[in-house]
Amino acid sequence: MSASPLLKVEGLKVSYGHIEAVKGIDFELHEGQITTLVGANGAGKSTTLLALSGLVKKAAGRVVLGGQDLTPLSPHKIVASGMVQVAEGRATLTTLSVRENLELGGYTRRDSRAQRADDLDHIYTLFPRLKERSDGLAGNLSGGEQQMLAIGRALMAKPRVLLLDEPSMGLAPIIVQDIFRTLREINKAGLTVFLVEQNVRQALKIADRAYVIETGKIVLEGDGRELLGNPKVQDAYLGG
Ligand SMILES: Nc1ncnc2c1ncn2[C@@H]1O[C@H](COP(=O)(O)OP(=O)(O)OP(=O)(O)O)[C@@H](O)[C@H]1O
Ligand SMILES: [Mg+2]
Repeated sequence: MSASPLLKVEGLKVSYGHIEAVKGIDFELHEGQITTLVGANGAGKSTTLLALSGLVKKAAGRVVLGGQDLTPLSPHKIVASGMVQVAEGRATLTTLSVRENLELGGYTRRDSRAQRADDLDHIYTLFPRLKERSDGLAGNLSGGEQQMLAIGRALMAKPRVLLLDEPSMGLAPIIVQDIFRTLREINKAGLTVFLVEQNVRQALKIADRAYVIETGKIVLEGDGRELLGNPKVQDAYLGG
């Protein structure tokens, strides 16, 4: 018997004016797994994440996290419920220090100072580079380091589900591998991850479960590794 999903999305639709960007999709995230949603430019990946985070209006559908219906909730309440999206790679606050950026990530929690200091230490263990640059301005970090900072900041909110929109974007392959390795490490420690990616190969490699989206519809789903070997996926996304 398989456990019930941590997050269940049913019949999600999103429109921009008369353009239907997401056309009624269903998917599930299971606790402790990495689930990925992959697809080409304009397929509807970011729109799906924005809808989960409450940042675009859902035209239809339901989003349920651990039995709680998040569908009508504001972005702020969605974060408080434990679903936290990593900010776009370069969206760190460049005129604040690395530490200040991380502390901001935890500010919605009513934890004690000591607890927050522990949380910060944990982030520095995951990302030693951030510790080294702790007092430096976020604006002076490399692209890869800024992506790590964005992930670290989201982790400071202690999410139950971490949402990421193309963390590999614009980064060199070796940095992408580093970031994906860290994601897996965080996941192994128990965090449920929903990763949206155009980098289909890397995403399928680390995913337990995967969905392929094309023009607003889910066209394939399965085990990550299994989809990596699927001829349709290879033809369409992996260069044959
Ligand atoms: N603010 C907007 N207003 C109007 N149309 C939009 C808006 N944002 C996205 N779209 C359209 O919705 C569709 C889905 O876009 P979305 O950004 O979700 O795709 P994506 O899969 O994230 O693509 P990419 O890989 O390029 O980031 C596209 O046709 C896009 O042009
Ligand atoms: Mg996108």
